[in-house]
Amino acid sequence: MLNVAVVGIGWWGKTIVPLLKQSKKLRVAKVVEVNPAGIADFARAQGVEVLSDYASVLKDPSIQGVVLCTPHTQHTDQIVAAAAAGKHVFCEKPLSMTRADVLRAIKAINEHKVVLAVGHEKRFEPPVLEAMALIKSGALGKPLQVEANFSQDKFLTLAADNWRLSGKEAPAGPMTATGIHLLDLSVGVFGEAERVFASVKQLGSQLVNGDTLAVLVSFKNGGHALLSAILATPFEGRFTVYCTKGWIEVRDKTHPEAPEGWTLTTAFAGGKREVKEFAPASNVLHNLEAFADAAMGGTPYPVPQSQMIANISALEAVFKSAASGAIVNVES
Ligand SMILES: NC(=O)c1ccc[n+]([C@@H]2O[C@H](COP(=O)([O-])OP(=O)(O)OC[C@H]3O[C@@H](n4cnc5c(N)ncnc54)[C@H](O)[C@@H]3O)[C@@H](O)[C@H]2O)c1
Repeated sequence: MLNVAVVGIGWWGKTIVPLLKQSKKLRVAKVVEVNPAGIADFARAQGVEVLSDYASVLKDPSIQGVVLCTPHTQHTDQIVAAAAAGKHVFCEKPLSMTRADVLRAIKAINEHKVVLAVGHEKRFEPPVLEAMALIKSGALGKPLQVEANFSQDKFLTLAADNWRLSGKEAPAGPMTATGIHLLDLSVGVFGEAERVFASVKQLGSQLVNGDTLAVLVSFKNGGHALLSAILATPFEGRFTVYCTKGWIEVRDKTHPEAPEGWTLTTAFAGGKREVKEFAPASNVLHNLEAFADAAMGGTPYPVPQSQMIANISALEAVFKSAASGAIVNVES
């Protein structure tokens, strides 16, 4: 068992704490929340101790790891502090907001020989695992282009001053909420990005930070990703990879918060389309358990640090392109 403290008990922290009750690999003994009074009922119901100070949990020898569910701009410093205290880190996405920061976070992780994992649970969806394995096997030929969409309307009811709608915490509108997951999967297919063009507009809502995002990413080893993320339309989740011998598409039935399963469509050149149904699976939990396995010295965490760096390097270019309207080279 890996004893962890979950930090930041808002929407996602309140999803993760009960989920970890089902786990035989992680135990949540404590949570950290800057507004402890606001989660008193939740903490009582979950049987967890609430601390209001992150530093005190880092000094606690009974805690081996932290699960960061805090606002985006805090992640890097919280990772660095946890690593310095010898704690393993599972950090919600995005890991950092800039390439310089993700390099700083990973340097601290490696210096202190702890494990870093990231909340990109889409990588752990059973149909995504199957699609990625098929692509890697070469059976679909050379990957040419990704087309993907992750849209939702959950933010339409947020108060205008919510941090998730701020230009500082969420540059490029939907990018840090949903687009980042698609960028991460695209990096999983193609590796490092080379150039990015991103456009964000306020077209369908009161979200002044922008509700409609289009991103075109060009990758170093060839291939494009066309990413769409909208905050003013009902849920959609789709990830398609077109290759020389066929294409494959994962389509979500519901938001990952309450999974109802997926369909996986495969089309080989000259063949018929095949559609496979996937039952719901707890990929959020599987990601956290992969973190525990790595932290307890078992199997390495399946997402390599090079891809974590590539994802955030491309993310920074998306922010710059959306702000300037220019095509931006990705730093490497
Ligand atoms: N993987 C996913 O699918 C997914 C889904 C939703 C959110 N997230 C991520 O989870 C993180 C949190 O998002 P959210 O939607 O839960 O936000 P939220 O605003 O609902 O919750 C954040 C909580 O953190 C608390 N907090 C802020 N600073 C803190 C600090 N220094 N120490 C302790 N507590 C602190 C806030 O009081 C708040 O309760 C973000 O990184 C977000 O992108 C991931």
